[in-house]
Amino acid sequence: MDWIKQIPKAELHLHIEGTLEPELMFAIAQRNHVKIPYSSVEEVRNAYRFSCLQDFLDIYYAGAGVLLYEEDFYDLTMAYFQHCAEENIVHTEIMFDPQTHTQRGISFETVIMGIQKAREEAQEKWGISSLLIMSFLRHLTQEEAFQTLTESLPYKQYITAVGLDSSEKGNPPSKFKEVYQAAIKEGYIPVAHAGEEGPADYIEEALEDLQIVRIDHGNNCLTNPSLVQKLVMQKMALTVCPFSNLELKVVEDLKQHPAKKMLDLGLKVTINSDDPAYFGGYLTQNYIQLADALQLSKEEVATMVKNSFQYSLLSPEKKENYIQRVEDFLEQHQ
Ligand code: HPA
Ligand code: ZN
Repeated sequence: MDWIKQIPKAELHLHIEGTLEPELMFAIAQRNHVKIPYSSVEEVRNAYRFSCLQDFLDIYYAGAGVLLYEEDFYDLTMAYFQHCAEENIVHTEIMFDPQTHTQRGISFETVIMGIQKAREEAQEKWGISSLLIMSFLRHLTQEEAFQTLTESLPYKQYITAVGLDSSEKGNPPSKFKEVYQAAIKEGYIPVAHAGEEGPADYIEEALEDLQIVRIDHGNNCLTNPSLVQKLVMQKMALTVCPFSNLELKVVEDLKQHPAKKMLDLGLKVTINSDDPAYFGGYLTQNYIQLADALQLSKEEVATMVKNSFQYSLLSPEKKENYIQRVEDFLEQHQ
């Protein structure tokens, strides 16, 4: 399955804070004189056993606490791009959680300029294109999301989309209806996590109230056949994250992962790593282990790779260009 590593692909669901590997966490903690509650990399990895989304989020926000300076955000983002270069991820749509940092007194500018510097370098060094999705934390209030939206405006040129992440249950999309309206007015494209742990109703709400153009996760749409039909008709893509679903107990076993069922139903599935440092692997491994567990055909994998460009937020010309590169690759690797 080495071809999966080599084929040009895009990643559409990736939290940059979720790429913080324990080694880098230690290095940054040391240089910033930040105390972390672990004494070794092994101890950190051992702490990465989650029984649900909230379990993970508690550790994920704590880990992000080592990030203080622009250089830290730059190093974090470059380390992810290094993985992209190794796996031939040629385009990536990176989510970042400004509130995880501004709530600790780190400025919006520090966060975004560190990430931005890395994006420019990755484009230059490896030809990797990327864009940014600014995600609101849904456990916080809409008012706080509005504040973040305002803080983002001086850096609007660097941000393509807005997203919604963190604790899903009890924090429905409708809570953020007005801030999404305002974000759309500012030119941001709306996406949102929905139907990961939350019910199918949250997906419908995200479509209606937030006007989203793509669904992050979306697994629970399968509990509502008429919703599935609507998503198929609208070609509404799902950014599916196999290792994340496994580690957060959304699925019991990769063999029971619904990706194949989703494809068979005609849903537009893309494969993504979500928080690779926490969930045990980057994008290529997600594809390989999913394909292995579900006995996916080469065509099914190729469809999901093409979907990753088709349902990206790139211009039609760029999408076409990338999809042609995928077709050329497939032709040469029959
Ligand atoms: N769901 C919700 N919030 C998150 C996730 C996720 O998968 N990853 C990082 N923040
Ligand atoms: Zn996510």
